[in-house]
Amino acid sequence: MSIPATMRALRQTSLDGPAGLRLVTDAPVPAPGPGEVLVRVTAAGVNYADISQSRGTYADGPRPPYLAGIEAAGEVVALGEGATGPQPGAHVVGVAITGGAFAEYAALPAAGAVPVPAGWADEQALGLVVNWPTALAALRPLGGVTAGQTVLIHAAAGGTGEAAVRMAKHYGATVIAAASPGKHEAVRALGADHVVDSRGAGIAAEVLRLTGGAGADLVLESAGGAAFGASLAAAKRVTGRVVVYGLPGGEAAVSNWDLVYKHQVQVIGLNIGVLIRAAPHVFGEVMAEMSALLAAGVLGPGRPTAHELAEGPRALAELEARATAGKLALLP
Ligand SMILES: NC(=O)c1ccc[n+]([C@@H]2O[C@H](COP(=O)([O-])OP(=O)(O)OC[C@H]3O[C@@H](n4cnc5c(N)ncnc54)[C@H](OP(=O)(O)O)[C@@H]3O)[C@@H](O)[C@H]2O)c1
Repeated sequence: MSIPATMRALRQTSLDGPAGLRLVTDAPVPAPGPGEVLVRVTAAGVNYADISQSRGTYADGPRPPYLAGIEAAGEVVALGEGATGPQPGAHVVGVAITGGAFAEYAALPAAGAVPVPAGWADEQALGLVVNWPTALAALRPLGGVTAGQTVLIHAAAGGTGEAAVRMAKHYGATVIAAASPGKHEAVRALGADHVVDSRGAGIAAEVLRLTGGAGADLVLESAGGAAFGASLAAAKRVTGRVVVYGLPGGEAAVSNWDLVYKHQVQVIGLNIGVLIRAAPHVFGEVMAEMSALLAAGVLGPGRPTAHELAEGPRALAELEARATAGKLALLP
């Protein structure tokens, strides 16, 4: 297969969020670097991280102008020096954390490129390397969920949240799902036992009411802003865990005074990229468990809502505006 010199891609031109994304037709096709594979992208995954990068709030994120998108699935067409693992012709899904996935070709680290499961279309594997391992890490090795426990899941209708709801139910937990009102039916269909309005001020009170005043054993905190305080207040005293992995609502503080006198709960930070690098044994456990969940049909094949690449700016604007449910894909 001949690889062209230039390609279509979405370029982030400013820190004005999705409004700063531009479709370009003359982006250079990247050469795979050492340890990388070049992939002909058939589907790129949209993540909230794309919004954070486009606003400049993602720690150490790329600075404009850059080619956007961190998750790509497609066919391996070339190998960089020393790349081992997937060979040309293989279909993989992987992460390009500094961008470049919203394009016809993307360079991905070979070591993190996961084969698309047999029988799945590439776009059905989106989620496999970002959303699902994050949700699983939050629930199990970090959150320690067990059967009979109650879990509050923020952004439960989203790409990460929907996987979390499915897995928490599989593990025998009672799920309280927080979502915008228009998405309540969607989270019920995923198996959530109770649904609370993520835009309301009554999340903590509702969780306490549903748990007889005890609070949730585990909170998957990916909302930030005022919801962070609600998560702390909704967690069970002493044994309750709050796993914090997202902040679309903005930064929020918790002080040592709060932890001693107000919220005697366990606050745990999660960044899946850091987990992969700093605790590879934990990530190995997560991926092994995920294989079992895939085999059992708990997860996947994913069913993302797909948009043409040119529609990317609008799709990302809708994600930022909380107007989407489930995983989004861009097709170059
Ligand atoms: N730390 C990590 O390694 C890691 C990895 C993957 C994902 N994440 C985080 O997990 C979260 C979900 O990511 P995703 O890609 O799956 O996105 P998503 O859940 O599909 O979309 C984000 C959702 O967050 C909810 N939300 C709550 N408060 C919000 C606010 N103030 N502004 C905008 N949205 C708000 C919205 O749902 P409702 O309107 O229904 O409330 C929105 O639909 C994000 O916070 C993301 O940063 C973190």
